[in-house]
Amino acid sequence: MSVRTNLGFTARDIARAVQRKDVIIVIDALRCCSTIVTALANAADGVIPTTTVREARMLHLKRPELLLAGERSGIKPKGFDLGNSPLEFSSQRVKEKSIILTTTSGTKAIISSKGAKYVFTGAFLNANAIAKAASEIAEREKIGISLISVGTVGHFSLEDFICVGAIARDFPVDNVQHSDAVLAALLAFQRAHKSLDTVIQSGYHARHLKSIGFKGDVKFCCQLNIFQIVPFFNGEIIVPLAKAPNTEVGMNGF
Ligand code: MLT
Repeated sequence: MSVRTNLGFTARDIARAVQRKDVIIVIDALRCCSTIVTALANAADGVIPTTTVREARMLHLKRPELLLAGERSGIKPKGFDLGNSPLEFSSQRVKEKSIILTTTSGTKAIISSKGAKYVFTGAFLNANAIAKAASEIAEREKIGISLISVGTVGHFSLEDFICVGAIARDFPVDNVQHSDAVLAALLAFQRAHKSLDTVIQSGYHARHLKSIGFKGDVKFCCQLNIFQIVPFFNGEIIVPLAKAPNTEVGMNGF
């Protein structure tokens, strides 16, 4: 049986994907999902996404041992330990720590996916690992895959769309039936991938990040498949899939 893929952009698309019981891959390449996978690759215990800065602060008051991280308009809110630059999430800062993370769009999309059994976060940095894990689960459970291109404050983002294509490229070819939208993302990735950094830098969000001093983040986030981590959101916290307790997927040793 072939695995069906869909591309979504909005909270409504996410709600539909939850209803269909799809595997959901939330994609926010600049920078939320790149930051999450970098934190986990640097041995953070987990990342707790929150919707608002207030909610993040309240949780931190209750659990001051957690690191408080995030951004609004790309900038670290006052009193936070870390911003949303993946380069800040070094092993010295995050090893064996859990992190509360609130970002403008990415963490909201992750939280909207609550209720789905399988929610992963994808970026260029872990595209191949995500494609492999999601397609194996979808095939085994005979369910579809919804790729969510998060965008920037409700607007389409070039980098997230191209990242959908990067992930779709690595689904096993024979048994996947892509929607036309996923096929379009795949074509965009094929066109862009030889000069990914240059193409992504021409997009709105990369230009914004550059204007506030985060050009290095864009370069870092454009690296393909440097991590094999599959960040898995269990409805509370994002952990590496291989370490997720009490899930069939965790035990399969991806
Ligand atoms: C977001 O979630 O909106 C982004 O990660 C914003 C950013 O680049 O900081």
